[in-house]
Amino acid sequence: MAKVYVTCRVFPEELERLRAAGHTVEMRDAPGLITREKLLGKVSEAEALICLLSDHIDAEVIEKAGKLRIVANLAVGYENVDLAAAQAAGIVVTNTPGVLTETTADLTFALLLAAARRVVEADAFVRSGAFYGWELLQPHLGLEVHGKTLGIVGMGRIGTAVARRGRLGFGMDVIYHDSHQSKPAETELQAKYVSFETLLEKSDFVCVHTPLTRETRHLFDRQAFLRMKKTAILVNVARGPVVDEKALVWALETGQIAGAGIDVYEEEPKVNPGLLKLQEHVVLVPHIGSATFVTRRAMARIAVDNVLAVLAGEAPLNPV
Ligand code: GLV
Repeated sequence: MAKVYVTCRVFPEELERLRAAGHTVEMRDAPGLITREKLLGKVSEAEALICLLSDHIDAEVIEKAGKLRIVANLAVGYENVDLAAAQAAGIVVTNTPGVLTETTADLTFALLLAAARRVVEADAFVRSGAFYGWELLQPHLGLEVHGKTLGIVGMGRIGTAVARRGRLGFGMDVIYHDSHQSKPAETELQAKYVSFETLLEKSDFVCVHTPLTRETRHLFDRQAFLRMKKTAILVNVARGPVVDEKALVWALETGQIAGAGIDVYEEEPKVNPGLLKLQEHVVLVPHIGSATFVTRRAMARIAVDNVLAVLAGEAPLNPV
């Protein structure tokens, strides 16, 4: 019977399944992130680790992990784990694909709509008591969404789900850029494959759905923003470092682009102070792409299923 360490609060019913299989489970029952010292200490005794994408499972952690057999990352992304080090140590790494696609696409659209139609600013306006009635030139005139051009960077599962919302729900023209062409998106959604530069130049809304890799780090830099329409809105629900946050603040402050809907940040949980000051057409949320009860529960279930499988000597269900 094995020791499982969980770095964050997880639905108790899911952890019960580990206990029912005879494993000892220790969960860090506190809000916020685990400290480095604590992680290094706990990992040395554990045979399974359930962790967050904000936990850095790097070579040092792997080296300390003498008995570890599996790292079950509670996320679809896994750039927080040093895969080479884990592989060299014979540790399985798993993620939670599939269950968060539609939920994250919903949030993408929420940000797109909120930034375009200035929903958050308008909400604050009403709450402040400043609403004096309907008039033609009200203070919160926004940007049209329906029928506009939606640019998807990264036409994977989530990108396709966002494209579907745009095309079928809002009659948008979809263009996309990816390292591979997506025939299903082209057939079902009439999505058009374009170069990154063309996508920047043509899109009214640019939605980022690419994983963070060496190639995509700071894909959105000053040069990229200079190519975008001054009326365009950037939505990032993928990974913060895909966007150079300083360049984004510059682009918004100088009117190089019109707005942004941002769920992920370059140095989470820190947010560029310049970004915090911007309100017009800017909506900021705290990495909540997958944050519904149903989806977070499903993610926990997948992580536990993978741990149960590996500890039983079976193949993991979602190896990365
Ligand atoms: C969230 O960002 C995830 O990768 O699941």
